[in-house]
Amino acid sequence: MSDAAVTAPEPVAGQPSATPGVAEEVVVLDYGGQYSQLIARRVRDCGVFSELLPHRVPLEEIARRRPRGIILSGGPASVYADGAPRLEMGLLELGVPVLGICYGMQLLVHELGGRVEQAEVGEFGRSELHVRDPGVLLKGMPREQTCWMSHRDAVFEAPPGFTALASSGASPVAAVENTERGVYGIQFHPEVVHTPYGQEILTRFLTEVCGCERTWSAASIVEEQVRRIREQVGDGKVICGLSGGVDSSVAALLVHRAVGEQLTCVFVDHGLMRKGEGEQVVSAFRDTFKVPLVAVDAEERFLQKLKGVTEPEAKRRAIGAEFIRVFEEEAAKLARADGGEPARYLVQGTLYSDVIESGGGTGTATIKSHHNVGGLPDDLEFELVEPLRALFKDEVRAVGAELGLPERLVWRQPFPGPGLAIRIVGGEATKERLDVLREADHILQEEIREAGLYRELWQSFCVLPDVRTVGVQGDERTYGYVVVVRAVTSDDAMTADWARLPYDLLETIASRMINELPAVNRVVLDITSKPPGTIEWE
Ligand code: XMP
Repeated sequence: MSDAAVTAPEPVAGQPSATPGVAEEVVVLDYGGQYSQLIARRVRDCGVFSELLPHRVPLEEIARRRPRGIILSGGPASVYADGAPRLEMGLLELGVPVLGICYGMQLLVHELGGRVEQAEVGEFGRSELHVRDPGVLLKGMPREQTCWMSHRDAVFEAPPGFTALASSGASPVAAVENTERGVYGIQFHPEVVHTPYGQEILTRFLTEVCGCERTWSAASIVEEQVRRIREQVGDGKVICGLSGGVDSSVAALLVHRAVGEQLTCVFVDHGLMRKGEGEQVVSAFRDTFKVPLVAVDAEERFLQKLKGVTEPEAKRRAIGAEFIRVFEEEAAKLARADGGEPARYLVQGTLYSDVIESGGGTGTATIKSHHNVGGLPDDLEFELVEPLRALFKDEVRAVGAELGLPERLVWRQPFPGPGLAIRIVGGEATKERLDVLREADHILQEEIREAGLYRELWQSFCVLPDVRTVGVQGDERTYGYVVVVRAVTSDDAMTADWARLPYDLLETIASRMINELPAVNRVVLDITSKPPGTIEWE
């Protein structure tokens, strides 16, 4: 594509975004950085809608959105490497402010005539930033501050017409700006918590430079999604597979707010849930929100299908297939009971991270779907309603709270579709083992909540290996189950760290499990991060 083709796009600056329901938008171009997604999240935290697009996206596509600002992310390349991602110069002609971060800044500097070179040493981790001239970007912030760096090449000279604002140990020029051209750059990462003034710097860019008014909020999302769902669905019937997780719960509530009783939720209790989970979901939806809900007790059916199945993927397949069968049967029953048209629409809790993961949100990629309802097949003849497609997990939680979803459901930790079955490892998920695991998990959850740690942890759960060990209790030999305690912190489940739970808490958990659960005589702690482990054991 030639630059000439886009030299005169519609005047972008100062116009409302072209993305439906979004007043103002900032585009983040992804150059392959580790934190690219986080930049978009931080921009949204500032109240400005933001989308992450691959850096190769055509300029027309960016111009079409009429963004208020453009952020170039970091990335692993060197501007001198063969095939390194380049800057489309037309980007700087859109009349929209541009902020380059890390590689994004080096790209701007390099293309605009500054000097980028490999420094003798790379700069990874915390660095001290010395602000010489705060300019517009760093105005009002301390002259000395900490920032997070992750680069090998460094900027040695700002391009002509630019002001060098700051430096650090290994970066002679760590921030630049040219207010006339609306081009800004920072070598460090404002999006990570290790840069204490990072959010303030992003906010300054968004408000002072881009003139954003920060109208993106949970309330505005609800309003917009309700309007769009009504538009899509009209007076058609909608069906939603409720899993008890926060995504499908929030998606269902949004659709219910939009089209009321046109929606029916189907909750399939496969007997692999945590203790009390089914009851909580049914009570919240049926009793509190008055959402038409079919709750199917399918425990027997699922246990039957799991008989003799020990291999993890075989378990997943057996559960997924049975789930579809139950769901289809219920959909057919509903259609018969109604006597009218069967439901045409199916609600899915697809999140923005799923959209990005499967191709970067350009709208052309195949989207990983059905992750919330245990694997419904693609040939189910429904049109999908996906009200969370533009949202990150924390926004989904904020929307849930806005819609009045009980805190217990809003903050529920992720739970795999195949449930407790894939936490009985190396063996069959029998009713007896599921009950032991459910009780152990319940004790763990109670203690974690009591210690005020539930929200801090991405997940905390128990695993029950199909193993017995010898113990001694009350002068008697025991031969019982081992319960594994697994607790991790994570941002997105792609990586995770084992949580450093306090020793006293671990002791309480272990002694409660052994005292209250006769089948258990040993408790161990999993101290594996991801990688090399996965979060679940199967
Ligand atoms: P792993 O174990 O791969 O898990 O580190 C990452 C995240 O995904 C969840 N998980 C699943 N969720 N169906 C699901 O809906 C599954 O089969 C499944 N397996 C893992 C896991 O709980 C963690 O949050």
